[in-house]
Amino acid sequence: MENELLRLKQEAGEALENVKDAAALEAFRIQFLGRKGGLLTGVMRQLKSVAAEERPRLGQLANDIKQAVEQRFEEIKAQLGASSPKAGSGATDYSLPGRFLPFGKLHPVTQVMEEICSIFEGLGFAVAEGPDVETDYYNFEALNIPPHHPARDMHDTFYVTDSILLRTHTSPMQARIMEKHDPPLRYIAPGKVYRCDSDITHTPMFHQVEGFLVDKDVSFADLKGVLTSFTHKMFERELALRFRPSFFPFTEPSAEVDIACVICGGSGCRVCKRTGWLEILGSGLIDPEVLKMVGYDPDVYSGFAFGLGVERIAMLKYGIDDIRLYYENDLRFLSQF
Ligand code: FA5
Repeated sequence: MENELLRLKQEAGEALENVKDAAALEAFRIQFLGRKGGLLTGVMRQLKSVAAEERPRLGQLANDIKQAVEQRFEEIKAQLGASSPKAGSGATDYSLPGRFLPFGKLHPVTQVMEEICSIFEGLGFAVAEGPDVETDYYNFEALNIPPHHPARDMHDTFYVTDSILLRTHTSPMQARIMEKHDPPLRYIAPGKVYRCDSDITHTPMFHQVEGFLVDKDVSFADLKGVLTSFTHKMFERELALRFRPSFFPFTEPSAEVDIACVICGGSGCRVCKRTGWLEILGSGLIDPEVLKMVGYDPDVYSGFAFGLGVERIAMLKYGIDDIRLYYENDLRFLSQF
């Protein structure tokens, strides 16, 4: 027994020093240390049949040899960079749990924005995009808002320099597009806009979709028809719409459009400020002054325009009662859409 143990010690030592890769290491483990049929394991099992007075000494020797072989085995394993006997051997462990790959999703506001655009595209509107950093001219002057006009106060503008600003609405796209194209035209311009404003229905950055149409004989009835048809498609039901007289320097007449508050059903809640209505857009017939500034003849052409708040529509569509939830980046909220 003693001789056999010493012979195994030498054999195992030599075999280990010849191991060059993880596959050979694994073969060594099975040959010498394997639980079933491993040579060292087998010799240790024979200890039971050794005479009782010899057993402690031989048992101690067997243990010392096994420990020394295991220690060298681990050293070589570490040198080969094998983290487990199977690693690098080409074997695949099919019992491991699969890896979960989280999927990203479009932000709910982006989803609603895309839906709005596709409804208007279905109504024959082309899509155009313009700069977030805008000049004072396009944001205000081309829209009949000269310097010192009181309407500028309504916009809570973030200025970059005296003549450069973050656009406060998507309406500058009216002038940018009309300058380049002759009527008839119908466009929508989606994008981000910025205002120094924040509460449960206002955020400093939000999204608008501008829409406008210029042709001969365009009337307020056309505007009402397009917006009503849009709202019914967007909310998939015939929600009540309210055209409320309003004022924008670039439209005449002007109207703000409210829809029945879908949070409270019109009975009044904190979102609709107890009125039962929620404003979703501003609109009107394009002011002749704006048409003149881009070189159109207002005696020949007329048009309508509107600018709708995308977050407001998204709030109503999903029954969200605080606009700020869209921008707190809470995945528990965002992953529901
Ligand atoms: C305008 O921005 C006009 N440019 C709209 C317009 C276009 C009128 C064309 C006439 C012709 P107003 O400031 O009302 O209008 O904003 C339009 C919509 O944007 C509002 O109805 C509202 O839905 C949304 N909105 C306004 N301020 C915020 C804000 N701080 N946060 C989120 N949504 C807002």
